[in-house]
Amino acid sequence: MKRLPTAGNGQPLVLGIETSCDETAAAVVAGGRILSSVVSSQVALHRRFQGVVPELASRAHLQKIGPVVGRALDEARVSRTDVVAFTRGPGLMGSLLVGSVAARTLSRLWGCPLIGVNHLEGHIFAAELGSESRPIGTPFVALIVSGGHTDLILSERPGGYRVLGRTRDDAAGEAFDKIARLLGLGYPGGPAIDRRAASGDSGAEPFPRPLLPGTWDFSFSGLKTAVYYRVKDGPRPGRTRVSDLCAGLQAAVTETLIQKTLAAARRHGVRDVVLGGGVAANSALRRGFKALREQGLRVAAPPRPLCTDNGAMIAHAAGRMLRLGSRSLLKRLLRPCDCLPARSLRPDPSLPLASWAS
Ligand SMILES: Nc1ncnc2c1ncn2[C@@H]1O[C@H](COP(=O)(O)OP(=O)(O)OP(=O)(O)O)[C@@H](O)[C@H]1O
Ligand SMILES: [Mg+2]
Repeated sequence: MKRLPTAGNGQPLVLGIETSCDETAAAVVAGGRILSSVVSSQVALHRRFQGVVPELASRAHLQKIGPVVGRALDEARVSRTDVVAFTRGPGLMGSLLVGSVAARTLSRLWGCPLIGVNHLEGHIFAAELGSESRPIGTPFVALIVSGGHTDLILSERPGGYRVLGRTRDDAAGEAFDKIARLLGLGYPGGPAIDRRAASGDSGAEPFPRPLLPGTWDFSFSGLKTAVYYRVKDGPRPGRTRVSDLCAGLQAAVTETLIQKTLAAARRHGVRDVVLGGGVAANSALRRGFKALREQGLRVAAPPRPLCTDNGAMIAHAAGRMLRLGSRSLLKRLLRPCDCLPARSLRPDPSLPLASWAS
């Protein structure tokens, strides 16, 4: 097996490239320490369409990937890294292809290993990054809430994952984005709803909690319909305030997410719960998750800037695979990139969160 060169702290320097959706991102990470993290957002490009246009996204990635990677290396004060990691999926195919080609090119140029990372694994372990973070041990239950996912995941051993439940319709972030559009709050909707909810009264405009008893699945499309009917004929004069609607809606979504996460942790006898994905930046969700400590749970969440897509979480997830992987996994990963079986490096828009530990 090839020995991996290491950075000053004895950990390999990993370049992480993330292009699964509408952020072009790159970061250099060594052993959980972020040396640089550059994120170029395409929000302004997609705003007038109120959502991500895949073709525009991949073209913008093509323009930005070179400068973003260059800046990440410059800010980390390195000219190359020991490993290159990239997001293999899930995500938009055109966007994923740009990141994968950039990563493959660099690993060939530098003659170093190339690792394809599952985006969701990146979101989970973003909670290990940041100054107040600590390593997440198994078993744990993770809640990934983002623009494309609302997944409840059980991990009983390092690199082993079981998806307990997921959304049956809209993801939590997608529901926030669509409802914000209904309310004329702009794009992306999640942060706008979060801001408006801060001055609202969640009791003034209550919404049902879609708990779907008996399953670990979620469903948020009914809340979208409920908001639609409340605003269809215009706000009731002097009564309906947008900030109250936002607060009521946010409470319904976040309480549902928290209750189901707590129930899953209890059902599986797990003390560690992890929050990840763009919606993990939501103030009410972060407060509610922190409050789970009073129920005896240990709670981990990423710092706000690392909740939405970034390259640091991809680099870190790859670093964990190198640190915790079995000898056979390492043997496979540490061969030069052109010898790797092509399947493990092929971008896959619907890549499932599969276990890599045997
Ligand atoms: N403060 C916030 N409150 C609620 N939602 C938020 C907040 N900040 C961001 N979001 C939501 O997070 C989502 C973006 O998250 P992320 O970047 O992880 O999604 P994605 O990468 O598009 O989806 P996925 O990770 O499933 O592929 C958007 O739907 C956005 O509205
Ligand atoms: Mg994401």
